[in-house]
This record gives sequence, structure tokens and C-alpha cells, in this order.
Amino acid sequence: MADDIDYARYDRIRPLRWTGESLAVLDQRKLPFVTEYLTCTTSDEVAAAIHSLAVRGAPAIGIAAAWGVVLAERAIVADDVDEAAARLEPALQRLNAARPTAVNLAWALARMRVALARADGNWRQVLEDEAHAIDSEDLAANRRMGSLGAALIERGSGVLTHCNTGSLATAGFGTALGVIRAGVALGRIERVFAGETRPWLQGARLTVWELQQDGIDATLIADSAASHLMKTGQVQWVVVGADRICANGDTANKIGTYQLAIAARYHGVKFMVVAPSSTVDMATASGDLIDIEERHSDELHAIAGTRTVAEGIAAWNPVFDVTPHDLIDAIVTQQGVIERPDAAAMQAAFGD
Ligand code: MRU
Repeated sequence: MADDIDYARYDRIRPLRWTGESLAVLDQRKLPFVTEYLTCTTSDEVAAAIHSLAVRGAPAIGIAAAWGVVLAERAIVADDVDEAAARLEPALQRLNAARPTAVNLAWALARMRVALARADGNWRQVLEDEAHAIDSEDLAANRRMGSLGAALIERGSGVLTHCNTGSLATAGFGTALGVIRAGVALGRIERVFAGETRPWLQGARLTVWELQQDGIDATLIADSAASHLMKTGQVQWVVVGADRICANGDTANKIGTYQLAIAARYHGVKFMVVAPSSTVDMATASGDLIDIEERHSDELHAIAGTRTVAEGIAAWNPVFDVTPHDLIDAIVTQQGVIERPDAAAMQAAFGD
């Protein structure tokens, strides 16, 4: 089935480019009207790009962090692997602290630490090779998930997605948006709806723009229109990504995902989570143990820098929520599909 998808047509954007000396980061704060790459030459610049959402999306921040380790390595002098590991650790800690919820960040840093520990005299090259591998494995995983997820969707269906889970959020092709790309390419999906994703507007600013680059028609809705859309019968699946999938299948994703899952169940719409295995965190038993990032109230007080709320109004801005596993019909990773996920099914798929 994968051979039927013209990836060159359905995947044109790259959020990160390693130049050999620096990491070019497509500045997602400025999209869709300005396409500008930031040049990161230090690991702290990469950490700042992650923290400020210049680069965002769980897999993309993991990949960016891996390249941040390579940049940190360029800045140290060390005689052996042990000394290098000790000297690099502060930079890794700062990268890890850039954002708390997406486990892909800690996962990528852990992978870089293991690669370094296993290296010998060529440890600098080993780190660079590992960052390349993290990047290229993510792209391959997304293509595989695209085919697996699209196969679950009946021909003629409509789908609703949330946030941005596309090429911009990954090494390319996307997770949930990869399923949607594949579903459209294979003629299974006829209607695509994207929620705005207040307050940062990942859906409005990024997702519909990204799909437009591929020539895929998508209809933008206000987040608050989702239940009404489901009631009209125009969507059969909600397809979303994930920032952390726990050992019992509970899934953290962009704020608003949980209410979509509740509305989907009420309306008989199916709910699919699509994420690479780097997003699975078997060390966290359930969703109530996840650290939910809260961002500045400015994101709610203003739109594109223009204040829309009276002075003196308090705002609470958690940017992720947790969907309980029993509201999820399918979790799709590159390893396969888990239907009706729970602790036993997760253990069978991802246990040691
Ligand atoms: O705050 P963001 O934009 O980094 O949040 C992104 C999401 O919640 C995505 O749905 C998730 O990271 C999956 S991206 C493939």
C-alpha cells in the first residue's frame, strides 16, 4: 500500500535542516506568512528555539535536541568518552528542561547518552550519526504509520484533526497528518477538518497551510464547533498525535484533545492516536503522573501581539491535556495498531 503514495507530492516541508555546522530551524512562530529559518550554532540556541516554539511538535523537538547535543559536542574538549559525557551533561540538562510534556525530548537525549557511552575514540562522529538516525527513523516511522492508520479508515470518510502533527512537527510526513495524507492519497478520506487549536493556533496557522502546500483541501473550524461538526455526520474519525503515551494507554496531547475524545464517543465518532514508539513512555503508569506544561497567560490575552482581553483579567493556560485510554479506539505506532488500548495491550506491544 505504501508504494501507492507519492511522498514527493505529499511531503514538501522540513522544519529542521542540519547544515553540517549548524541547525536551521524553520521559525514556526512566523508561519504562515513568513518563511524564515533561524540558525542555531549552540545547544542553548536550540533549547531556546524549543522553549519559544520556533520548533514544536513532540518528534521535532526530540530531533532538534539530538542536533543540540551535536552542537554541544562541538564546543567541548575531552580526551575520552567519560570526560565528554561529563562535560556534555549540563547542556543536555538545559535541553531537557526546554519543555516538559513531550517525552520525545528526554527519549532523544537518552539515546544520545547511550550512543556516547558505547562509542570509543570516534565519539564525535558517533553522536552525529545518532542524530541523523533519530531523524531518518522518524520519517520512516511516519510513512509506516500513515499506511497503518489510513487502513483503519473506511472509504468516503471525513476526519477531524487537532493541533499540528504534520511535517512541521516531525522529520517529515507527520503522525496524525501522515495518516490523513495517506488516507487522502489512497482515496479513503474525502473530507478533512482542522480545529484552530487555541491559543497558539497550530491548526489555523500551520495545519491548513501545510495541507494546502500538498493540494489537500482542508476546512478550518473553531475549536468550539467540533461537537456540532460531529453531530452533522461529516466526520467518522478524530485523528490526533501525542506528546506522551503512558503504560496504560492514557495519552497527553494538545489542550482540547480530551474534550474531542469525549465528544467523539458521545457521537459515535472513532478516535485514533498516531505517534512513533519514541512517544511511548512505559515508565509512566498513567496520565495523572504526566507533567502538564503551563505557558504564559499572554498567549490568551492577545492574538498576534494585539491585546484582546481587558487589563487585570487572570488566565490559566495549560497547553496539554490527557485523554484516558478508554476513550481511544486505536493507537497507531510504526510497530502496529493497538485497538482499545489498556495496560495489558500496551505491555504486550511495548513491554521488555
Ligand atoms: O505545543 P506543541 O505545538 O508542541 O504541541 C504539539 C502537539 O500537541 C502535537 O499534537 C504532538 O506533539 C504530536 S506532533 C506529531
